[in-house]
Amino acid sequence: MEEFRKEVLVSSEEIEKKVKELGEEITKDYQGKELMLVGILKGAAIFMADLARNIKIPVTMDFMAVSSYGNSTKSSGVVRIIKDLDSNVEGKHILIVEDIIDTGLTLGYLTDNLKKRGASSVRICTLLDKPERRKVNVPVDYRGFVIPDEFVVGYGIDYAEKYRNLPDIFSIEESCD
Ligand code: XMP
Ligand code: MG
Repeated sequence: MEEFRKEVLVSSEEIEKKVKELGEEITKDYQGKELMLVGILKGAAIFMADLARNIKIPVTMDFMAVSSYGNSTKSSGVVRIIKDLDSNVEGKHILIVEDIIDTGLTLGYLTDNLKKRGASSVRICTLLDKPERRKVNVPVDYRGFVIPDEFVVGYGIDYAEKYRNLPDIFSIEESCD
């Protein structure tokens, strides 16, 4: 991390409080429904684990891994499924759990894809939202924090596979000195 300037953007205490609130909201909205949480690997793994424990109705959990073609820090809009769901989504209410929405291309694609498979509903829960960078208008049903257009790490989010285990979310910047 020496080559970066690193600053806490969202603290673990703020995250904990927000995840609890999101869990309560989701619990209310999905009463009596069959809810399947779909976590997007790997970035959403930690958020998914905390969120699921704050949802007080029975849920099933599954995971997908996707990658966009091209430069890893810039989405191209073409999404490749690296790991698909194990379960059938037909007739299920799906809540996609994501770490961060940037251009919206990934979630735009995934929402369409899961709807085409016959899900009863597909909604999005994202911990972080960078609205400044949006290219595709995806409806965000549950949102943790709106953040500026900065590169972030921690709480599941990586830079070159590192820093996912940091309890807080940091913005990082290459230092010039
Ligand atoms: P789109 O642009 O399709 O992309 O909404 C969302 C995905 O881009 C990644 N992403 C980041 N990853 N720090 C990261 O480590 C960031 O600041 C960042 N911004 C976007 C992330 O994988 C997300 O799923
Ligand atoms: Mg991701």
